Amino acid sequence: MSDIKRDLLSIDDFEDELSDIIEWAIRYKNDDGFADDFKPLDGMSIGSIYEKPSTRTRVSFEVGVRKLGGQPLTLLSNDIQLGKSESIADTAAVLSRFLDGITYRCFGHADVAELAKHASVPVINALSDMHHPCQAAADLMTVTERGDSVKGHIAWVGDGNNVLHDLMLAGVSLGHDIKYATPEGYEPDSEVVSRASSIAERTGASIVGTNDPIEAVSGAGVVYTDVFVSMGEENIDGKFADFNGFQVNEELVSHAHPDYLFMHCLPAHRGEEVTDGVVDSANSVVFDQAENRMWAQMSLLTMMCNRAAWDTYLELS
Ligand code: CP
Ligand code: NVA
Repeated sequence: MSDIKRDLLSIDDFEDELSDIIEWAIRYKNDDGFADDFKPLDGMSIGSIYEKPSTRTRVSFEVGVRKLGGQPLTLLSNDIQLGKSESIADTAAVLSRFLDGITYRCFGHADVAELAKHASVPVINALSDMHHPCQAAADLMTVTERGDSVKGHIAWVGDGNNVLHDLMLAGVSLGHDIKYATPEGYEPDSEVVSRASSIAERTGASIVGTNDPIEAVSGAGVVYTDVFVSMGEENIDGKFADFNGFQVNEELVSHAHPDYLFMHCLPAHRGEEVTDGVVDSANSVVFDQAENRMWAQMSLLTMMCNRAAWDTYLELS
């Protein structure tokens, strides 16, 4: 355990360390020597609570924790007392007696904040309705891996949702310009935009919001989209219909830089927010993003649970 407990609720919690977190992850991913013997979570147990389904997050945490020498425990909401007969505060206190770190995928963002407040071990937000910081770390790792070949800004087309929030915060932290296009009424949260704007002022990046997908995508080095209806929103009447004209298809991406990267956090609803032709194109890096979830989270877990080992690896490698 690190001396000072830190939690990751949104990616700007680690704004100052983000480029090192990504550098660590890229080096570790490509290190076929030292990495096999590097077990910074030896003797530690990391528990992951899921109130919503997951493929990438669950598997990447389970495999990543194991690679680092730790024991992963997956705690599905139907199988534990949380939300039924036990409060978040009591759950946090109990789990802190057993575990060295907790990840939590929840509905309302206040719930992961509450868990972090009452846990004495580091807590990682594994997706809430407002933020998806692990996704953003992997996404910026994916962009950073390509170095100078990414020409142009990061464009978002679709819902102003949890994935956009952390993509924007992380993107401007690393100096990327962001242009997002959402339908009217589906803009990102104004408080998050304000936080991102403050970061952008410091890094010299820019943020532009529009309701015109072509304006956002024109000249873009990255075109990113996500589902129009997120988990937990399935019963919002008419939401899907409001996204008419926001599909990322061959015509829309013809306005991007020819070497643009297509990005999506997945799962993709093919034929809805993106066409097969775009998601399966040579420009698509969606499966690199999925793999990088594991490497980026390994960097985060090591930094949060064993800072000395994280610092040492960064200096050595
Ligand atoms: N991108 C992402 O978080 O995927 P899962 O819902 O499968 O974890
Ligand atoms: N915005 C989506 C992301 C899924 C990984 C959701 O919250 O359901």
